[in-house]
Amino acid sequence: MTSNFENKNILIGISGGIAAYKIADLTSRLIKLGANIKVVMTDNATKFIHPLTFESLSGNQVYHDTFQRTDRWDIEHIALAKWADLFLIAPATANVIGKAAGGIADDLLSTTILATEAKTIFAPAMNTVMYQKPVVQDNINKLKGMGYIFISPGKGRLACGDWGEGKLADLDTVIHYMENQLCPDRDMEGLRVLVTAGPTYEPIDPVRFISNRSSGKMGYAIAEECIQRGAKVDLVTGPTNLSPPAGACIYNIKTAEEMYETVLELYEKANLVFKTAAVADYRVKEVASNKIKKGQGPMTLELVRNPDILLELGQRKVEQILVGFAAETEELEENALTKLQDKNLDFIVGNDVSTGESGFQSDSNQGILYSRDGGSTHIPLMNKREFAHRIIHEIIKQL
Ligand SMILES: Cc1cc2nc3c(=O)[nH]c(=O)nc-3n(C[C@H](O)[C@H](O)[C@H](O)COP(=O)(O)O)c2cc1C
Repeated sequence: MTSNFENKNILIGISGGIAAYKIADLTSRLIKLGANIKVVMTDNATKFIHPLTFESLSGNQVYHDTFQRTDRWDIEHIALAKWADLFLIAPATANVIGKAAGGIADDLLSTTILATEAKTIFAPAMNTVMYQKPVVQDNINKLKGMGYIFISPGKGRLACGDWGEGKLADLDTVIHYMENQLCPDRDMEGLRVLVTAGPTYEPIDPVRFISNRSSGKMGYAIAEECIQRGAKVDLVTGPTNLSPPAGACIYNIKTAEEMYETVLELYEKANLVFKTAAVADYRVKEVASNKIKKGQGPMTLELVRNPDILLELGQRKVEQILVGFAAETEELEENALTKLQDKNLDFIVGNDVSTGESGFQSDSNQGILYSRDGGSTHIPLMNKREFAHRIIHEIIKQL
């Protein structure tokens, strides 16, 4: 059986992280899948694992010196950059991510990242504190916004002894991402998809608002997946810290009422709608025009219902396929199926947000996709990008 890697030129960039040893296994697996592999290492990476390992596994010279002369008159970083069908940087250190985000090219790996036009995937691996540092997250978001792909690291015991986010994603996930880039499913070409994401802000006065913990990550991941599969995507988003997915048409809103109006305007043209936004059910009846001063006793805010956007979409549905999300802390199945019926949905993704492993703010998710015809598919814990891929794959299959 031929694999999607057959005769594909895969350039692997290894930077100086402890997970560098795992790339030996990855190289061996890709070779068995028929890929041609060349490896670029940073000088620091060669302190973690010897280039000889990769030379033996790939059958090719390992590159790490920009100024090293070979017998052929090739400028190495340009030749490698052109050779690659796909460029994977794994493990990607905080340093190499920072250099790529800043356009720095001071060694062979960073210069090749800048010189290539090949699809480039980063698989970061580092200590949790490093990974969660705002500067690292900003760099990742900046690169994502430019179209670079990131494979979120897993959680677990790290080599430094800490527990948390930062382990190199498991190799099956890495291979899956690579395969997806080499042979992307283009089964959504011609479709227009409306995605809502993030929280809403319901103002109390000019400086305060009511909101929720939604990060927008799930909706952004769905938008990215639909774009990759060829769809035109309208993303209506509440305030988030995320970079907008490259290629999406972005509509920034703040309140539930703004989201309601924008979504209804776009709804008619949509073929598929993913309602991942966590829209506030209530808003403050009288928004104060000046900052409310604190008094002596308790304070009461009168809240009124916001429009139920999903219900409205269900009622106005013509041919659109409507997908809802139910983040529940108890009786997941019952609550999700009731929502599916009541709101006239075609699919609903029920997820248990009680554990903290998945759902709001987390990079990962797990859940059950219920369909109108009574079917259900369990999707285990995985990062949200992968989760989006699985949901959409199932929905397209069933349609
Ligand atoms: C034992 C050890 C393990 C390290 N592991 C990581 C890691 O997993 N991720 C990371 O970003 N940096 C890690 N570092 C720090 C990097 O090696 C350091 O930032 C280096 O400058 C990266 O260089 P490079 O990106 O050019 O390879 C580690 C350092 C040591 C000494």
